[in-house]
Amino acid sequence: MCGIIGVAGMPDAAKVILSGLERLEYRGYDSAGLAVLTREGLRVQRAVGAVKNLADMDSPKGHVGIGHTRWATHGAPTTWNAHPHTDCREKVAVVHNGIIDNYLELRQKLEANGHSFRSETDTEVLAHLIEEHFHGDLAEAVRSTLKLVEGTYGLAVVSADNPDRIVAARMKSPLVVGLAEGGRAILASDVTALLEHTNKVVFLDDGDLVVITPEGMKHFDAAGKPKTGVVHELKWSREAAERGGFEHFMLKEIHEIPEALHELLRGRTQMIGKRFDVEGALTEENIRTAKRIVVLACGTSNYAGMVAKSILETFAGIPVEAYLASEFRYAPAMSQSDTLAVLVSQSGETADTLEALRRARELGCRTLAFVNVVGSSLAREAEGVFYLRAGPEIGVASTKAFVNMVGGFYLLGLHLGEVRGRLTPARSQSLVAELRGLPRLADQVLRKADEVRAVGREFFGEHQHAFYLGRQACYGLALEGALKLKEISYIHAEGYAAGELKHGPLALLEPGIPIVALVPDNDQTRAVMLSNIGECRARGAKVLAIAAESDSGIAKTADQVLRIPKADPLFYPVPAAVALYLMAYEVAKARGCSIDKPRNLAKSVTVE
Ligand code: AGP
Repeated sequence: MCGIIGVAGMPDAAKVILSGLERLEYRGYDSAGLAVLTREGLRVQRAVGAVKNLADMDSPKGHVGIGHTRWATHGAPTTWNAHPHTDCREKVAVVHNGIIDNYLELRQKLEANGHSFRSETDTEVLAHLIEEHFHGDLAEAVRSTLKLVEGTYGLAVVSADNPDRIVAARMKSPLVVGLAEGGRAILASDVTALLEHTNKVVFLDDGDLVVITPEGMKHFDAAGKPKTGVVHELKWSREAAERGGFEHFMLKEIHEIPEALHELLRGRTQMIGKRFDVEGALTEENIRTAKRIVVLACGTSNYAGMVAKSILETFAGIPVEAYLASEFRYAPAMSQSDTLAVLVSQSGETADTLEALRRARELGCRTLAFVNVVGSSLAREAEGVFYLRAGPEIGVASTKAFVNMVGGFYLLGLHLGEVRGRLTPARSQSLVAELRGLPRLADQVLRKADEVRAVGREFFGEHQHAFYLGRQACYGLALEGALKLKEISYIHAEGYAAGELKHGPLALLEPGIPIVALVPDNDQTRAVMLSNIGECRARGAKVLAIAAESDSGIAKTADQVLRIPKADPLFYPVPAAVALYLMAYEVAKARGCSIDKPRNLAKSVTVE
């Protein structure tokens, strides 16, 4: 949940580090720091709050350095808890993303050996352990230290006694090395901080250790043997990782939804009924013969799984369960040999989802990852990977990745529907045509973005509570709509299966409370949705229905109607999601919220 960066052989290391930290800030932004090896020795700077506060300081001059932007897990966001952490002699500096589980025990031993600690963090033990094990070779000192450590880490270390190098290592937290011009190497927690230097990257594996000098990178595996990592050439441009003229990354990413969907579907709709586009060891046979699917994910990705349940059960007639990853990993042992576990994640680094993958494998599931970040941990650990191709998603609130997740499940559902003989060729053809039309529908909603945003601003006004209602695929979408509003505007919003309201939540309704009702046209649940709207209005609530342009009756039932293009009920979630995102964005903007970096959140949650 933090971002780290390391550079060697740069004319002005601090400048490169600060620019990289700005790009990593969405991973954590409660404090930041850097350490640079100058002619006078190791210089460390830390600041509470945004990276900008660090950049405002007078940066030390040197060619080798490391940096960190933090999301606190141990110790409040203060300057002494900010990274880098140093040893007693202030010769070694460490930046770390992850958690050292046995840090208390290690700290007691080190304090008994005379070390004095400055912070409340788990990370500081690493600096003192390296000090203990340093006998001239920093890489050896780091290797000996890591033998004593239990937990997760992506870390980078510099030492005034080995001033020309950075030693970095990875265990379950992401770390990637960019191979820049002139043989130089730059280390970071993810590719967004590297794209301004290169698109050639090597993703480190668990147990890997690298030594980065101005001449380049030396790569070693867990046994200390030299290793040649796979070089990935990323198609993402630097611009792609920048705001492109939009006020916020979230708004840019909402407007990228049609293009992201195009990318997702490119060359894949033709494969429906033939092969599902999976990379890795998982075979077409494994996918076709699954008797059951369990979707494992967190947050927005879990809600995509809930929408997927309706899509896959309807198109393919296969039983589906959307299971919270953080719950699944502690699920009792039941054999799941005929189950395909689909692990869904934008970042591919969410710890709960990674652990759910390992649990699913233990229980005998086949594992398929739906992932956006190429080469991420989940992509490399699952048997098969289906890439979401949504491009870099920087805003903490996920938008285009959700839409591509749902889009991916349309592809899987239609494919299984055909190969399992559940969909007639004619039905499948018309559904594939609808799928190919989704980018256009999303674009149609974006063409009236100002109108949709205005509806959001007026409808939610100054309210502090709100509800979202839906049924079937729209139940997951209602939860997603509520999550988006709450995570960026801090309004207490709840999503409900509309049929559940009368079993309790109805008691929460007060006159004027805003309720968004998701009402696909020609859907089997339409009539009951209209009566649920009636129930709410009877208690004084204000209901905004999101409905198709063709839906003539809805205006008589709801207080207000936001029109979106007509679609088959199962495809309704895509144009409707665009409208939900635009409204939530506008409400947060009207309240002056920090939209790309909401309080208390981070883009990828790499600890349990
Ligand atoms: C969504 O807007 C949130 N950022 C969060 O719920 C997120 O979906 C969740 O943490 C899962 O992240 P992942 O898709 O990267 O695994």
